[in-house]
Amino acid sequence: MCMLSADVAKILIDEVALRQRVRELGEQISRDYCGQDLLLVCILKGGVVFLSDLMRHIDVPHEIEFMAISSYGDATESSGIVRIMMDLAVPIKGRNVLIVEDIVDTGYTLAYVKGLLSTREPASIRICALLDKAERRKVPLQIDYVGFEIPNEFVVGYGLDFQGRYRNLPYVAVLKPERYRKQPGK
Ligand code: PRP
Repeated sequence: MCMLSADVAKILIDEVALRQRVRELGEQISRDYCGQDLLLVCILKGGVVFLSDLMRHIDVPHEIEFMAISSYGDATESSGIVRIMMDLAVPIKGRNVLIVEDIVDTGYTLAYVKGLLSTREPASIRICALLDKAERRKVPLQIDYVGFEIPNEFVVGYGLDFQGRYRNLPYVAVLKPERYRKQPGK
């Protein structure tokens, strides 16, 4: 079987629910930033699918920038060691920054990113995360916009990966247990 979707055990959030919630978040962000400068900072790679849908529902002028962070490597547990793979290409001093992320788990990644970006003196800094695995939190973190709170399961799809794959699934899903074993060549 070559179909990626055959690896899925359970769909946690389907396409209809994602579309609806992302639209609501975009509308809320549009209201909150009406008349203000806005810079969306997407955390690669997982945030990219969410960003591309979210920005099409944000009806105020804004720019997008990217940062690449890695904290998981190929593991399914966060290591707590956050590495910047690619920093922002622009200064953010005086800007209203909204960090766009796919998931907050332990919170290590965004606590680190928010702390780092705060030292660059933005006018404001907020967080928008599609998924919040709140019961796993290890460090306190305010998430200003949350799509869905989810249980403690390792999820893939809509930007989220396992060993680099499954980001393209159009829904958020849990894989069959045998699929979480190491893949050949990974
Ligand atoms: C994932 C996710 C967050 C982070 C959340 O990134 O995109 O950045 O883990 O975990 P935490 O709250 O426990 O820190 P990952 O390292 O898998 O990189 P990716 O986005 O490139 O897949």
